[in-house]
Amino acid sequence: MGPLEKPLCLFSLVLFVTLFSSTINVASASDEEANALLTCKANLQSANDSLLTSWILPPHDSGSTNASPCNWFGVSCNLDGTVIRLNVTNSSVNGMLDNFSFSLSPNLAYIELSINKFFGVNPPLICSLSKLIYVDLSTNQLSGNIPLEIGLLINLETLHLFDNQLNGSIPQKIDQLKSLIELALYTKSLSGPMHTLTNLGNLTRLYLYGNDLSGFIPPEMGNLVNLVELYMDGNNLTGSIPFTLGNLNNLTVLHLFNNSLSGSIPQEIGQLKSLQSLTFQTNNLTGSIPTSLVYEYLKRGSLAVIFNKDEEAKELDWPKRVNIIKGVASALSYMHQDCTLAIVHRDISSNNVVIDEEYEACVSDFGIAKLLKLDSSNWSAFAGTYGYVAPELAYTMKVTEKCDIYSFGVLALEVIKGKHPGDFITSLLTAAVENIKLKVVLDQRLSPPSPEVEEVVISEIGDADSGRRRIGDGWLSTVAVNATTKEDDWKRRRRRRRRRQWSRQREAE
Ligand SMILES: *[C@@H]1O[C@H](CO)[C@@H](O)[C@H](O)[C@H]1NC(C)=O
Ligand SMILES: *[C@@H]1O[C@H](CO)[C@@H](O)[C@H](O)[C@H]1NC(C)=O
Ligand SMILES: *[C@@H]1O[C@H](CO)[C@@H](O)[C@H](O)[C@H]1NC(C)=O
Ligand SMILES: *[C@@H]1O[C@H](CO)[C@@H](O)[C@H](O)[C@H]1NC(C)=O
Ligand SMILES: *[C@@H]1O[C@H](CO)[C@@H](O)[C@H](O)[C@H]1NC(C)=O
Ligand SMILES: *[C@@H]1O[C@H](CO)[C@@H](O)[C@H](O)[C@H]1NC(C)=O
Ligand SMILES: *[C@@H]1O[C@H](CO)[C@@H](O)[C@H](O)[C@H]1NC(C)=O
Ligand SMILES: *[C@@H]1O[C@H](CO)[C@@H](O)[C@H](O)[C@H]1NC(C)=O
Ligand SMILES: *[C@@H]1O[C@H](CO)[C@@H](O)[C@H](O)[C@H]1NC(C)=O
Ligand SMILES: *[C@@H]1O[C@H](CO)[C@@H](O)[C@H](O)[C@H]1NC(C)=O
Ligand SMILES: *[C@@H]1O[C@H](CO)[C@@H](O)[C@H](O)[C@H]1NC(C)=O
Ligand SMILES: *[C@@H]1O[C@H](CO)[C@@H](O)[C@H](O)[C@H]1NC(C)=O
Repeated sequence: MGPLEKPLCLFSLVLFVTLFSSTINVASASDEEANALLTCKANLQSANDSLLTSWILPPHDSGSTNASPCNWFGVSCNLDGTVIRLNVTNSSVNGMLDNFSFSLSPNLAYIELSINKFFGVNPPLICSLSKLIYVDLSTNQLSGNIPLEIGLLINLETLHLFDNQLNGSIPQKIDQLKSLIELALYTKSLSGPMHTLTNLGNLTRLYLYGNDLSGFIPPEMGNLVNLVELYMDGNNLTGSIPFTLGNLNNLTVLHLFNNSLSGSIPQEIGQLKSLQSLTFQTNNLTGSIPTSLVYEYLKRGSLAVIFNKDEEAKELDWPKRVNIIKGVASALSYMHQDCTLAIVHRDISSNNVVIDEEYEACVSDFGIAKLLKLDSSNWSAFAGTYGYVAPELAYTMKVTEKCDIYSFGVLALEVIKGKHPGDFITSLLTAAVENIKLKVVLDQRLSPPSPEVEEVVISEIGDADSGRRRIGDGWLSTVAVNATTKEDDWKRRRRRRRRRQWSRQREAE
């Protein structure tokens, strides 16, 4: 890597000049750093399998007195030849992080050790390194608490500790990291309260989802006006959603689902003009999503609107339609899984599936306004759109996942047919899928699909058909099997998106 060699040459020059003036303590500092890194390496359990094989001292007979680690894999130095960057991400390194003598590299600004198998009872003693700008220890096996001393890292802009086994609470001292731009702590087992964060004025992305955080969302969060993404879902947050969140002008993502929030949805949320993704479900909230947002979000409109206009329906070609069906299926399987309360959308129809600019389907929050209040399997009013509700369920008034699955089957047929299937559903009951003429089923406004797409389309019809036929028994478990993979897929997509965003941000830096 070019940039690594250049500092080395400059370093020799600097050394040459300084030899005349005083000591060669630059070289000895470098020796010290090299030895410290070698000690760490010696303690790793996989040093020979990993990319660290370049971490060796020059042979004694090479005439080199310079033990600089600056050209080692993953190590970068500044002009003085001291280590400023350590990057061994995804390098199959397995060992105890406690053994890294970080304090011997006081100029370290970037530590990137993510995606390895580092373990240790505490995140290492990095906290003496006041020059740190970037720390990523994510996706390792660190355990114990986040140390209080983390508050000393006042220059830190990025802190990623997610995907570890860290527990205990988030130290209030985090609020001293006033340079912080990105904080990612979704690490499964952090507990304790959400602290009042008032100093993190530059914070842009905050990822706290999937922990066990409790208490209220502090209203002061409304002061973090640079926030672009805020993920707090999957915790045990209580109380109401502070209306001050409506001040977060730049917010594009607000995920609060799967908590114990109560009270009414603050209408100030409607001021969030940049919002692209908003989730409130699996809480105990009342009220509805501000209408301004709903219209803001409907870039292309609902499926029903699209199918009503021939021109727009033609834009929605077969691959796009297949994607839409898959998108709705993932959304549903996600909603149906891991929920403390029965999460049933209750109103899956082409009116409630909206298509964004990239033709990705989103199950809209129209229905969620009803869903939010849902806390038992007992409800008294008819919810759902006529023509999408399973007949045997419409009368029992019982909410089960089957409501959605039947509606999904109808919707899938509608996407293929380009209009509500109507009586066609009944004919599916009596005829075998193989005997149905595909031409009759397909939206006549499109030219017939390619053989590959046709195959998928037929299997979707088959799915919708078996949904109809086996409603009430086998179908649910059938869906559950596939839902698992679909949910994984959903999570992978979400994860990929985040990684992409991070790497984009890094490139920008
Ligand atoms: C790694 O390989 C070197 C030489 O190939 C050997 O001396 C050393 O013991 C090995 N280390 C481990 C941890 O296996
Ligand atoms: C670490 O190195 C990887 C490639 O090995 C690169 O993609 C990544 O951006 C680097 N991270 C930092 C923080 O420099
Ligand atoms: C990690 O490395 C493996 C193999 O070297 C590669 O397949 C994988 O995509 C990498 N993961 C990330 C997140 O970069
Ligand atoms: C590595 O760390 C462990 C635990 O702190 C300690 O027992 C061990 O002696 C350390 N090894 C070295 C070489 O410092
Ligand atoms: C954190 O995990 C450690 C084991 O890794 C355990 O000993 C400790 O009790 C846990 N602390 C909390 C607060 O859960
Ligand atoms: C926030 O960012 C701006 C611009 O990068 C910087 O000038 C300011 O010092 C930062 N604020 C803090 C508290 O670090
Ligand atoms: C929001 O974004 C705009 C443009 O992307 C930027 O200029 C502004 O500084 C950001 N912060 C706030 C608080 O508006
Ligand atoms: C809800 O949160 C809990 C706790 O974090 C988590 O285990 C569960 O998977 C989450 N469920 C969903 C649907 O996200
Ligand atoms: C959530 O918090 C409430 C009140 O603090 C508590 O009663 C409840 O047990 C917690 N739920 C979980 C799943 O931890
Ligand atoms: C939901 O909130 C209402 C008050 O708005 C309360 O009576 C009810 O007990 C809460 N339900 C749950 C499950 O917390
Ligand atoms: C459902 O609610 C109604 C009225 O709220 C009540 O009379 C009925 O007993 C409830 N049924 C069940 C099964 O909880
Ligand atoms: C799951 O989906 C695949 C196609 O994605 C399909 O071939 C398979 O039959 C489905 N499995 C079940 C049990 O429905």
